[in-house]
Amino acid sequence: MLLHIPEVFTPAQVETLRKTLQAGPWVDGAASAGPLAAEAKHNLQFPTDASEYPSLAKTIAAALERHPLFLSAALPQFILPFMFNRYTDGGNYGDHIDNAIQTDRNSGQRLRTDISVTVFLSDPESYEGGDLIIEDTYGSHEVKLPAGDAIVYPSSSLHRVEPVTSGERIAAFSWIQSLVPDAWHRSMLFNLDMTLIKLRSQIGNTEEIVALTGHYHNLLRQWSR
Ligand code: NI
Repeated sequence: MLLHIPEVFTPAQVETLRKTLQAGPWVDGAASAGPLAAEAKHNLQFPTDASEYPSLAKTIAAALERHPLFLSAALPQFILPFMFNRYTDGGNYGDHIDNAIQTDRNSGQRLRTDISVTVFLSDPESYEGGDLIIEDTYGSHEVKLPAGDAIVYPSSSLHRVEPVTSGERIAAFSWIQSLVPDAWHRSMLFNLDMTLIKLRSQIGNTEEIVALTGHYHNLLRQWSR
């Protein structure tokens, strides 16, 4: 499931984040990729040992953790600290699949990557190219979102970032280990949750809606690991 999460940040919040990032010390992104991914990766990365990094990473995670749509779709168990990349001067990231396991540098905690997330931090009008192309069973999807919006997509999908031919594209990205490892189960739970929210707002908390909500939680109990 590909899901657009709108307005994780307001335009003013994005502006503040972007200013801090733009002033920062960027390094070659290939350094942080595995040997195969490094060949495909042509971008810059914000160093995780920079003094500004911890608070930037926390700001992104905290905003997503407050977003009901994100929580319902991802059902996160662990979120890897967010990192930041910057594409400029033809920078791109060729077709690849993300590593199945990532390690949190701080805690040493290992995480299975169920879901990939990108938060767009540059105004799409300010750069050419840079679309995130995600291939799934329904075909190829071009994603270029307003600054402050996020996309979540299955980490199992083949994806790439098209060359940025003018301007620059800054984004935050991370991976999530979900409480529900199976993507189809997650998608069914998400649809059920969204439908329940709509029904509840239309007709209130009837006995039937309480019963269906019970089913949602029983399925979540059944499918979570
Ligand atoms: Ni990737």
